[in-house]
Amino acid sequence: MNIDWSSLGFHYTEPEYIVRAGYHDGKWEEPYATKDKYLHLHVSATCLQYGQEAFEGLKAFRGIDGKIRIFRWRENAKRMAKSAEGLFMAPVPEELFGKAIHMALEKNLDLVPPYGTGATLYFRPLLIGTTPRLGVGPGKDFEFIVIPSPIGPYYPGKFHCTTFIVNRYVDRAAPYGTGQFKVGGNYASSFRATEAAHMMGCDCLFLDAKQHKFIDECSAANFIGIKGNEYLTPKSSAILPSITNDSLMTLAREIGLKVTRRKIRLEELADMSEAAACGTACVISPINKVVDTEKGVTYSFGDEPGPVLTKLYHALKDIQYGRAEDKYGWCEII
Ligand code: PLP
Ligand code: COI
Repeated sequence: MNIDWSSLGFHYTEPEYIVRAGYHDGKWEEPYATKDKYLHLHVSATCLQYGQEAFEGLKAFRGIDGKIRIFRWRENAKRMAKSAEGLFMAPVPEELFGKAIHMALEKNLDLVPPYGTGATLYFRPLLIGTTPRLGVGPGKDFEFIVIPSPIGPYYPGKFHCTTFIVNRYVDRAAPYGTGQFKVGGNYASSFRATEAAHMMGCDCLFLDAKQHKFIDECSAANFIGIKGNEYLTPKSSAILPSITNDSLMTLAREIGLKVTRRKIRLEELADMSEAAACGTACVISPINKVVDTEKGVTYSFGDEPGPVLTKLYHALKDIQYGRAEDKYGWCEII
């Protein structure tokens, strides 16, 4: 395939194969690879009618040694099982999840970007309810699909700063709603806010839906802040437990930072020297400004990534690209 790897953004590139497995009569079928990217789906399927859908996102990296590394896929499998439970779907067994990811990789080996291009192979596992239903309720048939696609950086530029706008008029997820699950509805419900922010060249900072007092999430990523020697990240029942954030917390402790997960008031941004969004897609995306238009306040962190986040960014990337020892066994080498 003729791809200009270095200029890829976070956009879909059609893979040759996707992988699918259906769930019927209480059983998962064996995963299989197919070139067909279309589903023969009933118009009344529960995914279409009632949003019974969950997804994941994980990456494979071409290392400095030429080997391919898949990062922490078992954590994504576990999280997808939780999302499935959250939406009353059949969980995809971890081994089936792994088999499908490996098959999607092996069938699309030429889509793993070369080392040094900044691009990676992203996997988008998807779980949908396929039972036709008109009465409100869950289905009993499901389809698990893995869509691989080579991608570049989520935010343009390799490691640059993004501005976030504080949002108070659209709530992404309620305190005990589906925010802790990776389900499509959370994203659709935030489009009104995120598209408005994107039109201004920014992204959206979501506050807790109950009081609009505490930081919840950075659009499709967790929030992290550096305050003195402390790595701060929000504790909230409405946010997605990020695997990147979990990895960064481990690396932060390693470099002597105190790691604290607690409720963070928006005004505490004023005491932080660095702030960032973190996630599989955006890795660490440093924040230069958080703009609170309603209150007329701007929190600034400088236009260059700060030293602590830069160190953590490189520590994580070094493990993913095989340049540093993988002490925690996060990468599966293919
Ligand atoms: N929060 C939301 C809402 C997300 O969509 C993502 C992306 O997956 C994250 C956080 C980051 O999670 P992870 O690091 O596991 O990709
Ligand atoms: C990810 O970070 O992998 C995501 O899925 C975020 C977004 C692209 C949905």
